Amino acid sequence: MNEYDRGGPVRSVAVWDLPVRLFHWLLAAAVGTSWASGEFGWMRIHFLSGYLILTLLLFRLAWGFVGSRSARFSDFLKGPGAAFAHLRELRSSGSHGHPVLGHNPLGGWMVAALLLVLSVQAGSGLFTSDDILVDGPLVAHAGSAVVKLLSTVHRLAFNLILAMVAVHVAVIAGYLLFRGENLVRPMLTGRKIVPDGFTVDPPRQVGPLPAALVALIAVALVAALVTAA
Ligand code: HEM
Repeated sequence: MNEYDRGGPVRSVAVWDLPVRLFHWLLAAAVGTSWASGEFGWMRIHFLSGYLILTLLLFRLAWGFVGSRSARFSDFLKGPGAAFAHLRELRSSGSHGHPVLGHNPLGGWMVAALLLVLSVQAGSGLFTSDDILVDGPLVAHAGSAVVKLLSTVHRLAFNLILAMVAVHVAVIAGYLLFRGENLVRPMLTGRKIVPDGFTVDPPRQVGPLPAALVALIAVALVAALVTAA
């Protein structure tokens, strides 16, 4: 039994706005590109995808305060009590649990951790040097001890990101297999299927104009930062 074959009537509710969905899939593509370009030494592409990641993260940080309700940190960063309550609900209700419109209290902290580690990775890249040919754009502005430390952080943090992405994808697969809840489709279409019997409060959506403005500011900030050298 899952969200699609409970038999009763269902309705579709808007959950993720377009900016969050674009952010997510651009971020996933850019992280993949950064990994491949780093591995194969395509440094121009590596720098560009790193700048895109920085821009996306700045955008997401701001959108977490001014964006649609399900995008806001206040909507999905809840105390440990809420996370344990969700765990208990997962164990007791199986595929019959109440649908969550947005990140659940457990997933919310995973999202915050991913955003934080990605920020450390992208930020440290600005100060990373291979001591031979390639310097990040802000290397000249930092002392050699800082460059050495951040270059090490940049090399090591990616392993942590890989592990976290593996957990991220495994948990999403687990929701589908064990709870019958497809989380990927809403991240593609923006809408989630909810059985009619459940009362849900659809998250308020912010229009595209504020998102475009926030994106422009993020682009301008990153451009100013990387040309400051
Ligand atoms: C096959 C690959 C991936 C799939 C299928 C996938 C799927 C998803 C889904 C379904 C969600 C929403 C979870 C929920 O309902 O609470 C989500 C959120 C998220 N994912 Fe992924 N993801 C993938 C790869 C990645 C990668 C590579 C990254 C970054 C390195 C990433 C970072 C995030 C972040 C930061 C969020 C939170 C989005 C937000 O609130 O803005 N994902 N992902």
